[in-house]
Amino acid sequence: MEFSDALALVHPFLAVALVFPAIGITAQMAWQTRQRRLELSKVDDKGKRKSKIPATVGREHVAIGRWLTGLVTGVTLVALVYVLVFKTKIWTQPVGTATFIVLMFVATIASIAMLYRTRPNQPQWRAGWTTLASAGLIILGCQDGVFRRTNEWYMSHYYFGITVSILMLASLAMLPEIYRDKTQRWRKAHIALNCLAVLLFVGQGFTGARDLLEIPLGWQRSHLSQCNWATRTCPERPTNDVSP
Ligand code: HEM
Ligand code: HEM
Repeated sequence: MEFSDALALVHPFLAVALVFPAIGITAQMAWQTRQRRLELSKVDDKGKRKSKIPATVGREHVAIGRWLTGLVTGVTLVALVYVLVFKTKIWTQPVGTATFIVLMFVATIASIAMLYRTRPNQPQWRAGWTTLASAGLIILGCQDGVFRRTNEWYMSHYYFGITVSILMLASLAMLPEIYRDKTQRWRKAHIALNCLAVLLFVGQGFTGARDLLEIPLGWQRSHLSQCNWATRTCPERPTNDVSP
């Protein structure tokens, strides 16, 4: 396998080995947090509120959830770095474009870091950094070379990936509001947005595996470029095959 092909595996590897296990833990803790809250909202025959679920689940959900935001946005940035380096070949771009792309990466990572550092009593800053980080991901994803599958957006790894990354940033930004809001509106919004996120994560598992299957290895590319994708036919023998 060529070096560039091996590097293409870094993103799927990180997603499978780190991100998906973290999603599983976060979802399990989320379910328990909700169950515990619902159990405690009811009074039993003896007039007591009881739950066998430990009181720490909420805190643990949030702790792993904070990691999840970093892991998902991180794995998205790794995919975009790979595409922009090996497909867009950033060094072949005009200096202005290349500088802009590098600055966008720096600004996006800095915005995510600042979002982590923002205090709970600074909602305007949390909203600001989330907007900047999301804009950074979208702008990087709009560059040439990123395979967006716009004509089939409903099964596009790119659109799902960017959306779910923004949903994770939004969850981190909303965090203090969930605790502060007595009407539970932020909690309900959090549940709705993250149920959607779970569906998108499942979609990422499918569309990512499909894309991995469809992308040829470096040495196969020149042969496969001679194929007719519409009729799904390839020349019997590649024209640049020099073997006897
Ligand atoms: C797979 C993604 C996620 C899902 C499915 C999910 C779902 C949930 C659910 C069902 C609850 C319980 C709501 C209730 O009490 O009725 C909850 C609570 C909460 N979630 Fe998430 N969540 C996810 C990711 C995140 C992330 C990334 C963060 C922040 C970084 C986060 C922060 C919180 C907070 C602060 C609470 C309140 C916990 C408490 O009451 O102690 N969640 N989430
Ligand atoms: C949380 C899960 C994931 C997220 C957020 C995510 C996000 C992304 C994004 C934003 C891109 C760049 C757009 C593109 O070129 O399509 C990308 C590319 C890619 N992803 Fe994922 N992904 C995830 C999981 C996976 C998994 C599980 C696999 C495979 C098993 C995978 C395989 C790929 C492949 C093959 C590419 C294309 C790279 C290229 O064009 O050479 N991804 N991903």
